[in-house]
Amino acid sequence: MTDHPRIIQGGMGVAISGWQLARAVSRRGQLGVVSGTCMNAVFAQRLQNGDVGGHLRRAMEHFPVPSIAEDILQKHLNAHRASGRSAVRGVPMFTLEASDDLLKLTVAANFCEIFLAKEGHDGVVGINLLEKVQLPNLASLYGAMLADVDYVLMGAGIPREIPGVLDKLARHETATLKLYVEGGMNDHLIVGDQPASEEDPRIVFDPKHLFGEQLPGMIGHAELRVTDQPLRRPKFLAIVSSDVLAQVLVQKASGRIDGVVIENDLAGGHNAPPRGTMQLTQSGEPIYGHRDSANIEKVRALGLPFWLAGDFASPEQLSAALALGATGIQVGTDFAFCEESGLDKNLRDETLDELSAGEVPVFTDPRASPTGFPFKVVQLPGTLSEQAVYEDRPRLCQFGFLRQAYRDDRSSQKKNGRIGYRCPGEPMTNYLRKGGTLEDTAGRKCLCNALMANAGLAQEQSSGYIEKPLLTAGNSLARLKHYLKNGSLTYTASDVIDYLLS
Ligand SMILES: Cc1cc2nc3c(=O)[nH]c(=O)nc-3n(C[C@H](O)[C@H](O)[C@H](O)COP(=O)(O)O)c2cc1C
Repeated sequence: MTDHPRIIQGGMGVAISGWQLARAVSRRGQLGVVSGTCMNAVFAQRLQNGDVGGHLRRAMEHFPVPSIAEDILQKHLNAHRASGRSAVRGVPMFTLEASDDLLKLTVAANFCEIFLAKEGHDGVVGINLLEKVQLPNLASLYGAMLADVDYVLMGAGIPREIPGVLDKLARHETATLKLYVEGGMNDHLIVGDQPASEEDPRIVFDPKHLFGEQLPGMIGHAELRVTDQPLRRPKFLAIVSSDVLAQVLVQKASGRIDGVVIENDLAGGHNAPPRGTMQLTQSGEPIYGHRDSANIEKVRALGLPFWLAGDFASPEQLSAALALGATGIQVGTDFAFCEESGLDKNLRDETLDELSAGEVPVFTDPRASPTGFPFKVVQLPGTLSEQAVYEDRPRLCQFGFLRQAYRDDRSSQKKNGRIGYRCPGEPMTNYLRKGGTLEDTAGRKCLCNALMANAGLAQEQSSGYIEKPLLTAGNSLARLKHYLKNGSLTYTASDVIDYLLS
């Protein structure tokens, strides 16, 4: 247990915890975690924008199958729109029948992110993926494993199939995941363990089909070779909100779980919904009660290393966590606003500026996320947190990462009907045409586009509309003030680690 790092820098999508942040944390002997969410789109857009700094090309030189790396560079490097508009292109939405090109792009994107995070030091690096963004996950995991990722962290659902998937991918074997169709995705999180129906299809990823029989072998950064050696199986940490879910996972997982992160409702990003029917405060935030707090005694009784997350970013909280038997803490918000974070610099400066002058409220929005999970939104003027700003936005769906699979009832064979994909954030008429309800669309926001904009990858539409950001942070945002001493408006990942260990 003592081999694990004490501090986990939590994975933060989209591209907020990128390789620069993860590398800075890992260099300090803690666990730096990159977010793999939407990484194929992020990677393609960065290449299309000319790969500023040449980092992706440097990483791609080490991709185990050079011909695939060349094809990807040929297609995407400097392939920005002729009109100069900034928007990614040539990255179709994921479906069960994702093309080989899309899968290869996803493998390469995650490979590069981990490769760069691991470059130049011996520290450990992890990748964070969301169970609910299911379709790209197998390709993302394989790409990260090709770059020798040390840890995989997954939450937002019960990732019980992932441990077995990691075992298979390490042997370059075909891995599959059950796709949650219809309401299954939300239900299984709330209820705890409601498996998708037996009729649900499986997502299939076959490394041999994509890369041939001469499969990429385990790599050291100095010497890369193509062999049929197995890959190193990363450690797997599940992120859950309760001891009950932790227990379910330990009992039912398809393979080894190396630890759990227990994340409460104060954490930035998505939060698990409260148990039972959701009740709201007068201002419209979900009410969490004692039933929503994890029983740490029971977590400890599982005998696995565990970390606590959600407003734990202080030396006192770290000590308290250790006293409860935790291996350490996972911290997000403090790292999200440091210099190495992938957050757009203007947004970061503006938030820290506002914070140093006064308060920046964080609202737990029960409706904003198309996933149906509460999502923490920083109330920053000019961003999509303002209703008027959101209403000015053309409703569209460009990436579709949060689309929910559903069975298309219009199909003639009802039982084995065609699988369709819909998102309550997409244009209303499309959503309703696909059988979605109006009620479901109320208050929903387009997180894919907004989160890309947070990372400086705003999509510009042909109408000229440039996507606006929608920031997320934990309830501890106000505490970041203590990093801003002597008029400084910036701090580093090292400052965070020094503070936490002080
Ligand atoms: C900007 C931001 C984005 C986040 N994105 C993700 C994510 O993509 N996946 C995830 O598992 N957790 C995500 N989180 C949660 C963090 O990994 C971490 O668990 C949490 O922030 C810890 O609580 P704290 O914010 O109080 O430190 C995010 C948090 C923030 C602040």
